[in-house]
Amino acid sequence: MTESSMRKRIYLSPPYLDGREREFLLQAFDSNWITTLGPHVDAFENEICAMTGMKYAAALSSGTAALHLALIMLGVSAGDEVICSDLTFAASANSIVYIGASPIFIDSDRATWNMDPTLLAEELLEREKSGSLPKAAIIVDLYGQCAEYGPILEMCARYSLPVIEDAAEALGATYQGKAAGNFGVMGIFSFNGNKIITTSGGGMLVSNDPEYIRRAKFLSTQARDPAPHYQHSQIGYNYRLSNLLAAVGRGQLARLPEKISRRKEIKSTYKNALGEIQGIEFMPEAGYGEPNHWLTVILIDPGLFGADRESVRLALEAENIESRPVWKPMHMQPVFKECRKKGGGVAEEIFEKGLCLPSGSSLGAGDQERIIGIIKKIGRS
Ligand SMILES: Cc1ncc(COP(=O)(O)O)c(C=O)c1O
Repeated sequence: MTESSMRKRIYLSPPYLDGREREFLLQAFDSNWITTLGPHVDAFENEICAMTGMKYAAALSSGTAALHLALIMLGVSAGDEVICSDLTFAASANSIVYIGASPIFIDSDRATWNMDPTLLAEELLEREKSGSLPKAAIIVDLYGQCAEYGPILEMCARYSLPVIEDAAEALGATYQGKAAGNFGVMGIFSFNGNKIITTSGGGMLVSNDPEYIRRAKFLSTQARDPAPHYQHSQIGYNYRLSNLLAAVGRGQLARLPEKISRRKEIKSTYKNALGEIQGIEFMPEAGYGEPNHWLTVILIDPGLFGADRESVRLALEAENIESRPVWKPMHMQPVFKECRKKGGGVAEEIFEKGLCLPSGSSLGAGDQERIIGIIKKIGRS
């Protein structure tokens, strides 16, 4: 066994239970409320509303489930098209395909890595001319940074396109002082294990329209009609979050400010140590808001740095440290290769050069120093 393989593995963004999760979980357990109804589900929804400033919320089994229900409630159906950020995790686009609709991928803006508002405008103008406007838009807040909602929402409003904000990665981020989750007719969050807070698996749909949330709760519990027997007039889903998991989520959410500031600190330690090195650039911070610093992401220019992204990843892996390439753009995914796209070159370049570094709230100073040392050693300088 080598020394590095004996060392504890450092993960990219592992769950970190540092609050009252155990207490809340045992409360739920001891009260026998362990299913999809219960006081922790209600409290978790209320606390997410208080945190985001949104009026209503439905706790669901995943962020993907939230996206799926949002599209259904907007009336998207088979054969429709939906605008979607190109640089994202596949779940954003999968939800569109579940319905039999097709995504149209819009490239990133180099200044934010989020959807490029100019390309969105071009696409919508072209589609208006051809008389085939898409039905809705899923706008992603990438790696904890909100998209540029000013021009994006103006454009979508001009063409009456309802927006779903995919804030799966962005809980706690802001755009012009408003919290992520506020920018569409509905917003979604993920509490998957790698996110800034986790319920092990889970998600949340938020909206200021009570009707969307009422329907989401109905559809996510198998769409039971009000009757003493089991009667269904619509297709439903088993998408509600359990009271046990909501209890974990409450413990996590209460520590969100600490988690954000710890991740910010981790990012600035990376920046201080690596920011001046030729060939290393950090994901830009757009300045129109505050990200939640979910992951620290760098771009590596092999010509300037002296090693490419994959060599850096493998050097870290050899020391039992997990890092990950940036999301592979959706237009490059075999499963979406037939889908329409606008641009794509920016997302491709970010994918080719981009590496997500270990950023979990529990990352120790010594471990981070080791990561920095490995990266420095492999570069030219
Ligand atoms: C941008 C984005 N959208 C959607 C999802 C889906 O969330 P979940 O894993 O909770 O289904 C994720 C993360 O997993 C994500 O990163």
